[in-house]
Parts: sequence; structure tokens; C-alpha cells
Amino acid sequence: MDATGFRRLWDEITGIGLADTGGYLRFSWSAADLALRDWFDAQAAERGLLVETDRNGNRYAWWDLAPEAVVPPGAAPDRRAVLTGSHFDSVPHGGAYDGPLGIVSAFLAIDELRAAGAEPKRPIVIGAFTEEEGGRFGVPCLGTRLMTGVVDPDRARALTDPSGTTLADAMREAGADPDALGPDPERLANLSAFVELHVEQGRSLEAPVGVASAIWPHGRWRMTFTGAGDHAGTTRLPDRRDPMLTFAFAVLAARKEARLAGGLATVGRVEAVPNATNAIASQVTAWLDSRAPDEAVLSEILTGFESKVAERAKRDGTGFTIEPESETPIVEFDASLRDRLADLLGGVPVLPTGAGHDAGVLAAHVPTAMLFVRNPTGVSHALGEGASDEDCAAGVEALAAVLRDLAC
Ligand code: GLV
Ligand code: MN
Ligand code: MN
Repeated sequence: MDATGFRRLWDEITGIGLADTGGYLRFSWSAADLALRDWFDAQAAERGLLVETDRNGNRYAWWDLAPEAVVPPGAAPDRRAVLTGSHFDSVPHGGAYDGPLGIVSAFLAIDELRAAGAEPKRPIVIGAFTEEEGGRFGVPCLGTRLMTGVVDPDRARALTDPSGTTLADAMREAGADPDALGPDPERLANLSAFVELHVEQGRSLEAPVGVASAIWPHGRWRMTFTGAGDHAGTTRLPDRRDPMLTFAFAVLAARKEARLAGGLATVGRVEAVPNATNAIASQVTAWLDSRAPDEAVLSEILTGFESKVAERAKRDGTGFTIEPESETPIVEFDASLRDRLADLLGGVPVLPTGAGHDAGVLAAHVPTAMLFVRNPTGVSHALGEGASDEDCAAGVEALAAVLRDLAC
């Protein structure tokens, strides 16, 4: 695989979901997502791979020795599949690589294996997982959380996007069946390993390819600040109950608690009601994202943050509530798989990440590993995310070597 070969396939999707900003709007079950699913199906068909969608909307392409039979429940250990792949969806105006790189690389890795005459002894499956970013319905890794039973299907069906459309309605509109959502233990039991290739999302990887050691514990919390809407020109300062003030304090408090404890905290999304320049807001809703190297630090950030903001709300005469939307404990990837991959790839760097992934969710059920491809800017979830074609080609080579080792 060379850089040109990578670019040729990569360019087939670079126009899908591309916004005027240069970032991507590839929300799950949107037209862009459906176009990417069609592209996935076409790539599978070109390679004679069997396409299948699970009950949670995750799509698969099987390179199976007996394609008429997607591995039946209770497959013998030596017939359990090796799963690779990632996700198509993006954060609002996100980069091109976060997610799709793992899917495009998987098709190219299969091409590499076939060109080299490799013969899998167990199926190799490419997965495209739904709503990994939570960019539309708020809960990250929704497809794999449903599959593993971490999210209740009733709760998932009722999740709404910013325009108030429920997941159930969005799925129906896209021709999918929301009533089928739910755990899929047999599918998980039929997997021998999952390897997700992903663009590195920080500045820590200096080689073209690396292997993940762990994912920091992390979570998302919805915060609601309530007060009294009123006129910006006639309400005396002492008479105000302005939730925007408590919100502003909360943003600074999150940063301070994270700095003091040694973790991270971000408020990147906010909605004000009525969102008028000349009115004191009656309500502010905002989302806290916090991550830390270990669970004690994460909980220290949350505890300090909640008590400081509650105290401030009392002084402002406002209301403050906070509730988790998703929480993910620390993930230490399977040590023997991690070491096997790092050795196989010639001693590439092994590094942890603060970014969440479907690999983190599946790791509790299937031996799981991640390959990272260098990101020269270190930027992700924003314009500026990238990887050179040469490094992406090196990622394909690495993934092909790993799949050969695990499945052939
Ligand atoms: C997903 O990419 C996340 O880390 O939020
Ligand atoms: Mn992401
Ligand atoms: Mn991702």
C-alpha cells in the first residue's frame, strides 16, 4: 500500500457531509450518514463481502470463508471473528479522519491481505458503528453501548437531537427499526478480537503508527441553571436571578477544579432560553465533559465542581442541577494483545489516550486493541485534524499485519 493507493479510496468519501466551514456534519441517520453507509455497502460488494446490519444500526462487512452463513451463534472459538473498523459519524464541524480512517483502512487492509494471498482461518469483519460521537443524540458510543447493554433501549429511543427529533423517529425516517434496539450478547460472544485503527487525537505520537495502552475515564454531564427571565434594561442588578452568571462561574470552576486535581474539564456546548440579547435568560443548559488519568481524580473534579457551583447558585438565587449522560470507567486494553501488536509492528510506541472510542466500550467484552496513526497537528474534533497519506498507508500496512496475525 502506498500513499497514492490510500488517497484514491479516501477521496471517495471526502465530499460526503462536508460543510462550508471545511468541517464535517456527519450525524447518525442523517443524509450524510446514509450516503456513507451506501458507500460502505458498495465497497463491500466490490470485494464480495457480505453486508449485514445489527439490531442497533451498526453495519458490518464480512470476509467469511462461508459467506452464506454469518457466523452463527455459539461459533467454536477457532471460528470466532476478528472485528476491525470504527465509525462514520462526526462531531459538529469535526475533522475527516476521526472514525472514517478506521473504516477506509480496514477495506484497504483486506485488499492488502488478498493481494498477498492470505487465507483467513476465521472471519474478518469490518464494522461501522453508529453515533460514536454522540454528536446528534448526546450519548457517545451509542451503537456499542446498546450492543453491550450499557444503555437501556427505551432511554435510547427517547433521546432527542437539538431539533427535538427522537432517535426512534430518526431511525424510522432512515428506514431502520428502533424497536429492535437492545443488547446483542451472541454477537459479542462470536468475536475473538476487536482492533480499531484511529487517528491520534493529541500530540503524543511521534512515529507513524502506535498502539493504545488505555483510555482515561471520562463522562458527560448535563447542567441546568434556572433563574428569572426579565428585561435587560429595567431590572436592577440586585433584583436579578440570572442563571447566566452561575453558568459563567461554572465554566471557570470546571477549569479550576480540573487544573487543581490534574485532569481535564470542558464546557463546549451551551443553550440559553430565550437566547435574546436584551433579556436576562430564564434558563441555561450546558454540558460538562471531564476526563482524568484515573477515577479518583475524575471524582475529585466532579465533587469539587458540584459543591462550588451549588454554593454559587445559592448566592445568585438561581437553581443548579447536574446529571450524568454517559460515564465511562478507565479502560486498560488487553495487555497480551497490546504487547503482541506492539512487538509485531516492530516495537512501535504504546500510549494512553484521553479520547473515547467504541474500542473502550467493547473492551469489557472482547479482547480489544487500538492502532493510532500519527496526527501532525494533534488537533481533533476541529478543523486542522489530519494525517499524511504516507502515515495512513503505514496504518493500513500495520492493520493488515495485525489482521493476518490474528485471523490467518
Ligand atoms: C470521542 O471522540 C470523544 O472522546 O469524545
Ligand atoms: Mn471523536
Ligand atoms: Mn473516533
